[in-house]
Amino acid sequence: MVTAGVVEVDPATNRFVLPAEHAAWLTRAAAADNLAVFAQYIAVLGGVEDDIVECFQKGGGVPYAKYPRFHAVMAEDSGQSVLSSLESHILPLVPGLVARLAAGIRVLDVTCGRRRILNHLAALYPNSQLAEMDLSPEAIAFARDEATEKRLQNIEFVAVDVSDFDTTAPSATFDCITTFDAIHDQAKPLHVLKGIHRALRDDGVYLMQDIKGSSHIHNNIAHPLGTLLYTVSCMHCLTVSLAQGGEGLGAMWGEEKTREYLQRAGFRSIETHQLAHDLQNNWYVVRK
Ligand SMILES: C[S@@+](CC[C@H](N)C(=O)[O-])C[C@H]1O[C@@H](n2cnc3c(N)ncnc32)[C@H](O)[C@@H]1O
Repeated sequence: MVTAGVVEVDPATNRFVLPAEHAAWLTRAAAADNLAVFAQYIAVLGGVEDDIVECFQKGGGVPYAKYPRFHAVMAEDSGQSVLSSLESHILPLVPGLVARLAAGIRVLDVTCGRRRILNHLAALYPNSQLAEMDLSPEAIAFARDEATEKRLQNIEFVAVDVSDFDTTAPSATFDCITTFDAIHDQAKPLHVLKGIHRALRDDGVYLMQDIKGSSHIHNNIAHPLGTLLYTVSCMHCLTVSLAQGGEGLGAMWGEEKTREYLQRAGFRSIETHQLAHDLQNNWYVVRK
C-alpha cells in the first residue's frame, strides 16, 4: 500500500496513515466515488480465469455458481452507482414518476440481484406496491432479509428464471418496470424484454440501465472505461449467459443493438439519457 502510494508511512514513528484526500476515493465513506469497490472485481474475475480459458478452448460458459462473491460486489457497485443518485438524478428522468410513486403504483424490478434499490423505494413510497425477481435464491434471500429487517410491508420477492418471461409474464400489470445493468447478460434477453412489454400497462414506463457504449468496437476505442467494460464482459457477462445456453451478448452490446432489441420486443418510444456523473451507463426511458 505504501509503495503503491495509497498509504503513507512516517519514517520517524513507523505509523501508517491513509491521507484524507486518498480516503475520499478509496473508502465506503466516499459514497459514490469509491474506486475500491471496482477493484474487488479483479479478485472476483481472477477466480474464474482458468474456467474462462477452458471455455475459449472448448466452448460453453462459466455459471454464476463459480463466482461466490459476485452478488455481494455487484450490490456494492450498483448501490454506489444507482442508489446514491436515485432520487437526485434517476427518478427525475421520467417526468411525473415521483408523484405517481407517492400516490401509489405497481413497480417490478426484473433481475434485481441483492439490490437494495427497490427496498429503498419501498421505504420511500409506502403507497406503492413493489416486486423483485431474480434467478438467484441467495440474492433474493438477501434482499428479502433486508426488507424484513426494515419492516417493509409493500414489497415481495420471487426467485425465478425469466428466460421464458415472454410467455410467463402477467399481462398489463405494472405501471413501472425497471432493470438495472442486467439485460445484456440474460440468457434470452429478447424473451425478457418481450415479457416486460407484456407486463407493462399501456401508460406504463420501463426504465432500463445498461452499459454505455456502441455496438461497433471501433466507436469504443476512445471510451474512457472501454478496457474495463470489455474485460468484465468477457470474464462475466458474456460467459454467464453462454453457461445458460444463452446468446452471450456481453456488456458491450451497445446502444444500437439495445434499441434494436427494444423495438423487436414491441416498444415504440425509446429515449436515451446520460448522466453527467455516470461514465458507465445509459438510461433508457421506454414506453409502448
Ligand atoms: C449484472 S447482475 C445485476 C443485478 C442487479 N440488477 C444490480 O444492478 O445490482 C444480473 C442479474 O441477473 C440475474 N439473472 C441472470 N440470469 C437470469 C435468469 N435467467 N433469470 C432471472 N435472473 C437472472 C442474476 O442473478 C443477476 O442478479
